[in-house]
Amino acid sequence: MSHISREEAFELLKKYNKDHFHIQHALTVEAVMKWYANELGYGDEAEYWGIVGLLHDIDFELYPEEHCLKAPELLREAGVGEDIIHGVVAHGYGITIGCGVTLDVASEHEMEKVLFAADELTGLIWAAALMRPSKSTKDMELKSLKKKYKSKGFAAGCSREVIERGAEQLGWELEKLLTLTLKAMAESEDEIVAEMEHVE
Ligand SMILES: [Fe+2]
Repeated sequence: MSHISREEAFELLKKYNKDHFHIQHALTVEAVMKWYANELGYGDEAEYWGIVGLLHDIDFELYPEEHCLKAPELLREAGVGEDIIHGVVAHGYGITIGCGVTLDVASEHEMEKVLFAADELTGLIWAAALMRPSKSTKDMELKSLKKKYKSKGFAAGCSREVIERGAEQLGWELEKLLTLTLKAMAESEDEIVAEMEHVE
């Protein structure tokens, strides 16, 4: 198991990510991962699941064409354990990145499968939240999320194929993934917003 603290992981994230949108996404995926750890009976690993979520896109801002290929280098240099690195790389499983490489490290641990399934979906849910008068997930209903999900033109960059493959890897119906991830985001939103206020 890796020996990086949550504090160190957050500093490392901010070393390579300046864009607030990216930092907010990392904090969101961290919170969602912690929520899932508790929900799925891995409560004692919640911080660990969160750290993998926090670091999963570490290379995306500076190296978008080499997303998931550059991450191991950045993480190893900072002393992050191979277990975390595996989880980070596996969140791109089967995806062809900008430089033309198809990522071939598969999710093994349940934590990794949850990261794969929830990452892309949090982007779609957040985009849906921003369309609402409240600009929040807290009053979003599953029905309205499903409508947005089905609308091809909405948040077209959030791949439904990846989200559905993620649900499948977990052995879940898509509905379960949507329900739980929306709940995770709604319950974590205040904490994420509060944390963003301290980001420079
Ligand atoms: Fe991500």
